[in-house]
Parts: sequence; C-alpha cells; structure tokens
Amino acid sequence: MSNRPYIVGNWKMHGTRAMLAEARAIDRAAERLIKVEVAVAPPFTLIHATRKEAELIGIGAQDCHPAEGGAHTGDISAAMAKDAGASFTIVGHSERRADHGESNTLVKQKAEAAIEAGMGVIVCVGETLDDREAGKAEATVGRQLKGSLPEGEGVAEQVTVAYEPVWAIGTGKTPTPEDIVAMHKHIRAKLVEVYGEDGAAIRILYGGSVKPENAAEILSGKEVGGALVGGASLTAESFLGIIIAAAGDGEE
Ligand code: PGA
Repeated sequence: MSNRPYIVGNWKMHGTRAMLAEARAIDRAAERLIKVEVAVAPPFTLIHATRKEAELIGIGAQDCHPAEGGAHTGDISAAMAKDAGASFTIVGHSERRADHGESNTLVKQKAEAAIEAGMGVIVCVGETLDDREAGKAEATVGRQLKGSLPEGEGVAEQVTVAYEPVWAIGTGKTPTPEDIVAMHKHIRAKLVEVYGEDGAAIRILYGGSVKPENAAEILSGKEVGGALVGGASLTAESFLGIIIAAAGDGEE
C-alpha cells in the first residue's frame, strides 16, 4: 500500500462525454500533485473514454456483476469494466445497497469477482442515522465488513475500505472528526481480525460530504487514508480543492 493519500471521485450517475474535459483537467493537475494518489470512477459508459483522456490518474468502475458473464441483461462484469480501462471497482456503495437491495453476501461476491478479474476493490460500509442515534454505528459497520470483505489468499492487497455514513452522503453533514477517527480505528481492528497483519496496511477512506473546505481536517485524522468524494468530484475545480488539501501544500 502506498502511504500517499488516496482521493477517489465517484461520479455516480453523472456525466456524458462533456465531462471528459473535467477528467482531463484533473489528470493534468495530478501530474503536479504527486503527493496524492488520484482516481475517478465514472459511469460505465465513460470508462473507456476517460481512460483515453486521462493518463495518470486511476480509473475505476462503480460496480460489477459477480458472474464472469452470461444471461444478465443490463449488467457489466468485472472483466468487461477492466477491458474498458478500469483498474478497480467500487462495491457495496450504500446507494446500491439501498436501490438494488444488495446484501453483504452479494457485495462480497462482487469484490471477489473483481479481484479474480485482476482489479482492486473499494468496499463501502456505513451506518444509517438510526443506527448512529441508537449507538449501533460500530456494530453495523463491523457486521458489514464481516459480510462484505473478500476472502482468499493475498486479496487484502487489492482491498481499500470506504467508510461512508449513509446520513452524510450528499447531505452536507459530516460526523465530527473524532467520530470519523473512532470509526476508522474500529474498522482497522476489524481488518486486522479478518486479514491478520495484511489488514494493518489496508487504506481506509472516509466518504460523505467531503468538500474542499472540510477535506484538510477530515484527512488529518489518524487512520484516514483518503476520501471517496461524490458531488465535489464532478468539477475539476472542486475536486482539485480536495486534492490540494490532501497534498497538504502550504501547511507544516
Ligand atoms: P458525496 O458522496 O461526496 O456527494 O456526499 C460520497 C459518496 O457517496 O461516495
């Protein structure tokens, strides 16, 4: 695992080819900001074109089907996403868990399929507001990790975890920096439980309303290895604000 902060833009269901200019601008800036590892996960339809526009940054998918191929109308396998130019995929995003009823078991199958296809995975976990208010945030996230993390020889190297509280996504609300650090510590302990020593090296990203204004504070937290960014990754201007904050330029 690299020690550089990892900043990943999740474009969700946004973007036509007009967005490629943003990818190009992000890529150009990333060339200067070498202290940060940058990636974007555009919709499937833009993976190939984004890979061609952007030479330096990582390109990922937002999901994949657990099967290698077959009669699954409308679905995309990990091998297909890889062939289009993706080197990793997000799995288990809360929007997929909610919109498509994805279970931990399915998320795990997807993660294992992606790794089998030669890709990295960002496994998303996060509690709802009800969970948090009931004091069950850590238990929920622990259960999600236990059920969703891929198993197998050497898989830990391909895994990144994103902690994304459901109530913080797209809402402008974020947990306190202390709550983020506490959850990342909890996640680290679980990763070590599952993967042993290898779990100590897995990057844990925070996601949910990360903006240029709050990025530096969030990213300075212990065990916060980067950010998964939705809304603020849609323009190069705001995404670069986060990348610059991650680079820590001007600080110290
Ligand atoms: P947001 O989304 O930055 O728009 O809150 C984050 C995510 O869902 O990955």
